Amino acid sequence: MTGALHLIIPEDTTTEQADAALAVGASRVFNGLATDLDEEFVVSKAISPEDLRLLLDSLSHEDTTHSWKNFDRTAALEDLLRWENSRRPTEVFFFYLRQGKDLQIVGTGSIAEHLNSRFTDRGFCVLGRCYLVPKFRGRGFYRRILLFRLEHCVVRLGQNLKGIHIGSDDERIAHVITQQPSPGWPSFYHLGEEELLIAGQTKLVNAYILLLPEFSQSVTHALEGPGAPSTLAALHGRLAGTELRDVRNLGVRLRDALAGPRERAWLSRRDCRSINQLMAFCSAVPLVGFK
Ligand SMILES: CC(C)(COP(=O)(O)OP(=O)(O)OC[C@H]1O[C@@H](n2cnc3c(N)ncnc32)[C@H](O)[C@@H]1OP(=O)(O)O)[C@@H](O)C(=O)NCCC(=O)NCCS
Repeated sequence: MTGALHLIIPEDTTTEQADAALAVGASRVFNGLATDLDEEFVVSKAISPEDLRLLLDSLSHEDTTHSWKNFDRTAALEDLLRWENSRRPTEVFFFYLRQGKDLQIVGTGSIAEHLNSRFTDRGFCVLGRCYLVPKFRGRGFYRRILLFRLEHCVVRLGQNLKGIHIGSDDERIAHVITQQPSPGWPSFYHLGEEELLIAGQTKLVNAYILLLPEFSQSVTHALEGPGAPSTLAALHGRLAGTELRDVRNLGVRLRDALAGPRERAWLSRRDCRSINQLMAFCSAVPLVGFK
């Protein structure tokens, strides 16, 4: 990965120390990309009640699948963190723009340690809850917030990181993550659709996954070799190629390609641990239509 952050925040770090380290690391990511030298971007795990109310008020007026629509404006940071962490261990970050002495809240985004109680492998983390205050949209901040979280996953998990998941129905997010999210990073693949319960309503969102190079190679390696059935050879070609970013519903496609008797017999002689992990991930999301 290019431009990896060397940001280490041990579990027993105090909030103040963690915020200081985050601020330094994020400044490197953000300001390395900034065009205006008078602006500085800051990331923190802290937010004032006023800024949090601003975010929640703003969210409540949006037609969005952001899960914090489940909260009203009186919610405190502790309420949000309790709710997030009752579902899965989650870090929530707040992003600010400092201009002189003025510090404005730009948005938020989170990283969950694993998918859910059905799939607790910590090698697959989840980026979620991204929200930008409307006046800061259209300025490329989403890419910066995404890059910060990608780098933070690497810092946290190192070689153990296998995949990064995002669920979103937003076209702007789809554009960024399925094209190259950031130099040195592979694109996210469209896995299928998942159902989310937002403010009492079930909504369909697209499920994406970015596979880290080593894990991706172990998936493709299992599909190549002498006598591979043509379905698997074709699948290998697509996974090893670059056109996959345009493929939709990769989860079901993978499942179908692996299901035939010839394919199963051939794969039984291969090391399929990575493929099985990916299939278990799709099943745990759960992708619509994926059993
Ligand atoms: C989704 C969100 C984070 C995106 O941030 P943003 O600042 O509005 O995004 P940008 O304007 O930088 O656009 C991102 C990219 O999408 C492209 N884009 C813009 N509109 C697009 C569209 N309708 N379709 C496809 N791509 C589009 C932009 O050109 C840009 O690509 P580029 O960097 O290659 O030029 C922000 O709009 C937001 O917080 N929305 C409300 C909350 C939400 O819906 N969150 C997601 C669900 S959890």
